Amino acid sequence: KKNMLDYVSEKVQDESRQGEAFAPFANDPQVYKKKFYIESYGCQMNFADSEIVAAILNETGFGATRNAEEADLVLLNTCSIREKAEQTVRNRLTTFKQIKDARPGMLIGVLGCMAERLKSKFLEEEKLVDMVVGPDAYRTLPGLIEEAETGQKAVNVLLSREETYADISPVRLDSNGVTAFVSIMRGCNNMCAFCVVPFTRGRERSRDAESIVRECTDLFNSGYKEVTLLGQNVDSYYFVDEAKDATITFAKLLEKVALISPLLRVRFSTSHPKDITDDVLYTMAKYENICKYIHLPVQSGSTRILQLMNRTYTREWYMAKVDRIKEIMPDCGISSDIIAGFCTETEEDHADTLSMMDYAKYDMSYMFFYSERPGTLAARRYKDDVPEAVKKRRLQEIVEKQNKLSQESYRKDVGNTYKVLIEGNSKKSDKDWMGRSSQNKVVVFPKGDHQLNKGDYVMVTVHSSTQATLLGTITN
Ligand code: SAH
Ligand code: SF4
Ligand code: F3S
Repeated sequence: KKNMLDYVSEKVQDESRQGEAFAPFANDPQVYKKKFYIESYGCQMNFADSEIVAAILNETGFGATRNAEEADLVLLNTCSIREKAEQTVRNRLTTFKQIKDARPGMLIGVLGCMAERLKSKFLEEEKLVDMVVGPDAYRTLPGLIEEAETGQKAVNVLLSREETYADISPVRLDSNGVTAFVSIMRGCNNMCAFCVVPFTRGRERSRDAESIVRECTDLFNSGYKEVTLLGQNVDSYYFVDEAKDATITFAKLLEKVALISPLLRVRFSTSHPKDITDDVLYTMAKYENICKYIHLPVQSGSTRILQLMNRTYTREWYMAKVDRIKEIMPDCGISSDIIAGFCTETEEDHADTLSMMDYAKYDMSYMFFYSERPGTLAARRYKDDVPEAVKKRRLQEIVEKQNKLSQESYRKDVGNTYKVLIEGNSKKSDKDWMGRSSQNKVVVFPKGDHQLNKGDYVMVTVHSSTQATLLGTITN
């Protein structure tokens, strides 16, 4: 079961698929001489990066395996966002130590944000690690692997101002064949005081718009029906096409992707409240296939805390943004990220967060208690002075509030009919389909004797709801 408090440290690997190969030739010794195993933690961007890594490794003669025990190369794509995320990775490494003891030739590599944050210190702390590779250095993996194979430790944690991996076609791992993530930018130029991402991912840069449209078109042509455009702050996407003498904003990019086909759904994540423009909202409203759903992290409902967090908006400004969204798209779903117990947070600030949640009526939120990260603005400037017990109690109150809001939001949908994109069998029964509405709500309904497949659109009328699922029946 998905733990709401812990979503970013979920593993990509589905345990039930251990031993199964990713690609048809993954086990063919003629094609792939060696095998790699990869596990991803953190945000969707890390998962998308693992698919780029898989493409690079395929080129280098490594086929994917779901079984770490038979791998020549084990990779962990890591996250540093909270201390707990890093602890999870360290725990995983002790498991791999046992595998490596039984298979001394096996190489272990650490990729991603934790690699970037700790750099070669990682090699001192964790003796069994052979390679440390930062998020902008994946093209150098073949050379680093060669180096590690000779028994040397290999490190590349250089950040880049240009790298977007635009020309690499990701190898889809753990895909349902219907929905896919597409990175449109890397890095982050915001300096939210609590956040480690600008340090682990470097400067913001936007990927060539044409390569994005090409990747989405290829996905559509191979049967995918939904793409999620990914960036830490998608609304600041900005690409200058020198050949065509055109500048492409996020609104323009959205439109270009929406125009690929009305049958291709478009989603995006994440929007920073300070940067989402009317232009984006009107583009969303104009195209039926751009999903009516915005993840709009508030972090706190208190203007004083928002200022300390360096979020650059106030409580009132955020509320006005929510109003604007509802004005332009009355049916738009909104979700959030919330941090409890940031430095100096008082009971009054906390009450402001709770009332903000009521105001925005979030359909869903990811909720965390503040975890100080070394090197961040907050770690350098402020004291982490809210006691852990208080942080946890406030978080609990936030979670309870969100549970109520979600319940209400899902109950309100009963009686309505939604266009649902089928993603596969429901978890509980292969007699039921599972899909999502435009608003990103999970909808489960009986297959009946309709001849439908995953990737089909179907109209479903909702007859009941739980806190996180709509239950319905197909309507003709
Ligand atoms: N780029 C996105 C979010 C990136 S990280 C944005 O700007 O919204 C995902 C979420 O993790 C953040 O929105 C924040 O709520 C949470 N987070 C980040 N740093 C944290 C920290 N030090 N402690 C607790 N939660 C944190
Ligand atoms: Fe972190 Fe803020 Fe950038 Fe999001 S916008 S990644 S929270 S610095
Ligand atoms: Fe974690 Fe890095 Fe993403 S710190 S949340 S994996 S950008």
